[in-house]
Amino acid sequence: ALPKSVRIVEVGPRDGLQNEKGLVPLAAKVALIERLVAAGLRTIEAGSFVAPRWVPQMADTDRVVAQFRSTLDVEMPVLVPNLKGLELAKAAGARTVAIFAAATESFARANLNAPRAESIARFAEVAAGARAHGMRVRGYVSCAVHCPYEGWVEPGVAAELAAALTEMGCYEVSMCDTTGAASPGRARAMAAATIAAIPLEQVAVHFHDTFGQALVNTLTCLELGISVVDSSVSGLGGCPYSPGAAGNLATEDLVYMLEGLGIETGVDLEALVEAGRQISGVLGRTPASRTALAMAGR
Ligand code: HMG
Ligand code: MG
Repeated sequence: ALPKSVRIVEVGPRDGLQNEKGLVPLAAKVALIERLVAAGLRTIEAGSFVAPRWVPQMADTDRVVAQFRSTLDVEMPVLVPNLKGLELAKAAGARTVAIFAAATESFARANLNAPRAESIARFAEVAAGARAHGMRVRGYVSCAVHCPYEGWVEPGVAAELAAALTEMGCYEVSMCDTTGAASPGRARAMAAATIAAIPLEQVAVHFHDTFGQALVNTLTCLELGISVVDSSVSGLGGCPYSPGAAGNLATEDLVYMLEGLGIETGVDLEALVEAGRQISGVLGRTPASRTALAMAGR
């Protein structure tokens, strides 16, 4: 059955901006997050403490986090790949970290520069260190459906990794279609396997929209009772290590669908569309969500 309310995890400031060619100024990132907060979003991924040599776009995450230290009613996870990242996250005042394990060997090596098993052991250390410091830990399973290097992924493999992340103390695990190759049959199989492996309330989904399937994949997962959805304002995004993958599900389109279904989100669609318009302006493009386009033409 469909959930009564959905918690949206806005990943635009991180997943959305990490793959931009140009560097987005700090002030524009801060303004984006302020607008997302004003629109009613209460979980907003603020950035990443990763190697700046690999992902220079996220190098000012400490300054982004510092701007929102006193915004206590908004959860702002930051990606952390290793203990060095954890130290930086702590120093910046982050309260929630996100660890991001890969379902496949090749993606672990590309995204984390380490064998899969080693990267998982590293994340266990990060999770333990974060929890010892009183931080919350969110988990991601990358390539939960499809890998850019290895193709389709067995649902059981993704679900088993979700269980491992839950055992590390993650309060929630986001199951990601990194390449955006999934369609509803595969999305449902992956989600069903995950629900069999970890508590339903702890499952989130994260779809990229490469084949235009992100919204329908999300709906399929909601029908299984999943009630946490990652999305990105204006459909920004993509992973530097997933060549050809499009942006995330656009938050505007997600909110429009959920409103139509009578599912509560706490998000004001007009304010969200405005946030998307503003950041699209900074990036020099037209807002990419269908909802923003439709509302502009009204
Ligand atoms: P490495 O090169 O093997 O690391 O990278 P290293 O330990 O050998 O260190 C190399 C240099 O990086 C050193 O500096 C370190 O200090 C520095 P140097 O001595 O050369 O000057 N370094 C760091 N600096 C800042 N923060 C750190 C850090 N760690 C090392 N945390 C590493 C290994 C894991 C660090 C690297 O591979 C990395 O940063 N990976 C992250 C890549 C990334 O951010 N990918 C995109 C996000 S994941 C994603 O988009 C998918 C997701 O959306 C879900 C989905 O859709 O699937 C979440
Ligand atoms: Mg992603």
